[in-house]
Amino acid sequence: MPGNRFGQLFTLESFGESHGPAIGGVVDGVPPGVPLDEGVIQPALDRRRPGQSRHTTQRRETDAVELLSGVFEGATTGTPVAFTIRNADQRSRDYSDIADRYRPGHADVTYDRKYGRRDPRGGGRASARETAVRVAGGAIAQAVLDHLLGGVRVRGCLVQVGGDAVSPEAWDWAAVAANDFFCPDPAAADRWAETLDRVRRDGSSLGAVVYVEADGLPAGLGEPVFDRLDADLAKALMSINAVKGVEIGAGFGAAELHGEENADAMTPGAAGPAFESNNAGGVLGGISTGQPLTARFAVKPTSSVRIPQPSVTRDNEATEIATQGRHDPCVGLRAVPVGEAMMRLVVADHLLRQRGQCGGWA
Ligand SMILES: Cc1cc2nc3c(=O)[nH]c(=O)nc-3n(C[C@H](O)[C@H](O)[C@H](O)COP(=O)(O)O)c2cc1C
Repeated sequence: MPGNRFGQLFTLESFGESHGPAIGGVVDGVPPGVPLDEGVIQPALDRRRPGQSRHTTQRRETDAVELLSGVFEGATTGTPVAFTIRNADQRSRDYSDIADRYRPGHADVTYDRKYGRRDPRGGGRASARETAVRVAGGAIAQAVLDHLLGGVRVRGCLVQVGGDAVSPEAWDWAAVAANDFFCPDPAAADRWAETLDRVRRDGSSLGAVVYVEADGLPAGLGEPVFDRLDADLAKALMSINAVKGVEIGAGFGAAELHGEENADAMTPGAAGPAFESNNAGGVLGGISTGQPLTARFAVKPTSSVRIPQPSVTRDNEATEIATQGRHDPCVGLRAVPVGEAMMRLVVADHLLRQRGQCGGWA
């Protein structure tokens, strides 16, 4: 199936369905000699894993990654790095009642209209189970960045649940690992816990906004015109399940600024221009400035809700659907490690492209 591979020089090809035996990927373009084993990838998968708090789906998965190729004695060989993640908890019976009916907000209807058939178990290929592959690929990308460049840090957090946003003054990166929400504002995390308990009891769901950034990037990454760094990042983030909007830097807020407020003023710095602000989100003309690359993305509310909704059957007859299976009341939570992974893939790809065309970074 086309459309399952991402990147130009550093590529991730993903395969697998929610309830098949396994999901997995092939990462190609990895330079030789990059230190890599399962222990490099597993911690990233553990951050994305479901069932870690009452606020995420209770699907039980160990998400244990197995490397199949491209690695010898703890380092990459330069050949494709293939990996699998077995699906352990495949409770197909939870989903059997929706095989012939389209769940509103899901890809059931579009897969059927495109292919004429689909794997209905747990959403098949459209399930966010596939995002585990991206997270594993992102960990390999980070290993490449660490090996070639060093000092590139990609991190993300949840900044809004429903209409309730974090307070910028309370932002504390250290808090992100200390709550169930990847939230940088402990007070907001407490509010969200209460809100999501209520929403879950009501059988409903809420959307969210995720922030991701990469710092430690050199200036010069990104291609002008179609493969701009920000364009590739927008595509990468937009390709995550349930994402409905992406902003780079000041994003839609830039439309409300005057030119002199929005343009990031420069002064002479120790190693080239120093910027006084970062409304550009670290990109000018599609090329990194050396400032942090920053983006936000909006995640829609979980479509699987217990509240009955009108829909149609495969035979186009009226029906009603109320989801009985497991679901997250806010899938934005688990999208944080996925957003970080997609940013890592984009940065690693553009680092290799920059190295290929302009040299540098042995
Ligand atoms: C980490 C993650 C977990 C998700 N879990 C669920 C879920 O439990 N229930 C659900 O209805 N949608 C879930 N989704 C969203 C669906 O996969 C997605 O909405 C669906 O495939 C339709 O695709 P679209 O929303 O991108 O158009 C999740 C998304 C992400 C990123």
